[in-house]
Amino acid sequence: MNIAVLGAMWGDEGKGHITHHLSRNFDWVIRFNGGANAGHTIYRDGKKFVHNLLPSVDFRYPDVNSYLGSGMVIDLEKLRDEVMEAEKTYPGVGKRIYVDKDAFIVERKHKEEDKSTNGHIGSTNRGIGPAYKDKIGRSGKRIGDLFTEGKPDLITGYSDVLLDLIGKGVTFTHALAWQDVFNASSLLFEGAQGVLLDINHGIYPYVSCSDATIGGIIASGFAFAKLDKVYGVAKCYTTKVGEGPFPSELQGAEAEELRKIGNEYGATTGRPRRVGWLDLPALRYACRKGGITHLILTKMDILSGRDVVPVVHSYGKEPVCPDDFCSAKPQYMDVLGWSDCRDFAQMDRFINEVEYATGCYVAYVSCGTSESDILAWEPEAA
Ligand code: IMP
Ligand code: MG
Repeated sequence: MNIAVLGAMWGDEGKGHITHHLSRNFDWVIRFNGGANAGHTIYRDGKKFVHNLLPSVDFRYPDVNSYLGSGMVIDLEKLRDEVMEAEKTYPGVGKRIYVDKDAFIVERKHKEEDKSTNGHIGSTNRGIGPAYKDKIGRSGKRIGDLFTEGKPDLITGYSDVLLDLIGKGVTFTHALAWQDVFNASSLLFEGAQGVLLDINHGIYPYVSCSDATIGGIIASGFAFAKLDKVYGVAKCYTTKVGEGPFPSELQGAEAEELRKIGNEYGATTGRPRRVGWLDLPALRYACRKGGITHLILTKMDILSGRDVVPVVHSYGKEPVCPDDFCSAKPQYMDVLGWSDCRDFAQMDRFINEVEYATGCYVAYVSCGTSESDILAWEPEAA
């Protein structure tokens, strides 16, 4: 079975937590877009880990491998740091990490360029935009170039990093050469960012620069992998970091309270996240554009104890393109709340509204950071 776990909103939905939990059942967990702008938070054995580049694999399971796909842009120094850090707790884990040679390198100059040019977007300054710009402009450097005779000099200073990674057992390869391996395996594709930050379908120009929909999986050379389920992850409320339209955004004391109880501060940058209520038209848009078939709702514990939970049910005009988010006139309704986020009967009304609005089954809900907090809502749907 092959599945994808995508961000259904603006990132930070809890993809890392979900992927980590599901990863034990798969042979490969594959990142296919973005780079170290992602911050996937994982809680394991009471400790917190943040993966920026490595897939959110549960390293306690020795048969799960990691693949960094060709659609990514990779800061090799950052990757070395992450591998070294993982090696401290899981010696030998480097041998389970594979990197596509067709992925492009985030060079030091890209991070500098991000700082000086992409402040108005609220970029994470990880060099993502400039690296993809060079890729599209056909002047980018691929990881494979470091292996090509005569070419390493083009990218000075990265050969040592590469050797360190190889020394830790990391394999550099090409996905297509492994098609037989992948065809005989179960694959979990882990998206980064979310559909509303997607370069094509997100709210341009307030987007990241990669394909955060199932299109990114195909673009990374995995067109041969048939997906059985595409899970879209969304919080039961909404957050966003960076600039741009956010129709259901809260302001003032109400925002401050939700930010505080939800601990909404960026995993990558530490920035306070913008917060708002669940936005059903945006979620419906994301399901359609993203190729999402099932939903996973996270952070249900954060909204526990409210009599009612507000959600946006309409913009007046259904959003069908990014511009529709700029002119949205959000209309709210109150949905019956829950006091116990482990009591399915209490959450039924809320889940039903989400399913009705999106046409997607809710497969899991998450009500905390430990593994036992991820609950299968409808076993047959999960
Ligand atoms: P960039 O990808 O660093 O250029 O950032 C572009 C926009 O996407 C900014 O608003 C970032 O805050 C946002 N962004 C990028 N990656 C993530 C992520 O993983 N989670 C949430 N927001 C992100
Ligand atoms: Mg994040």
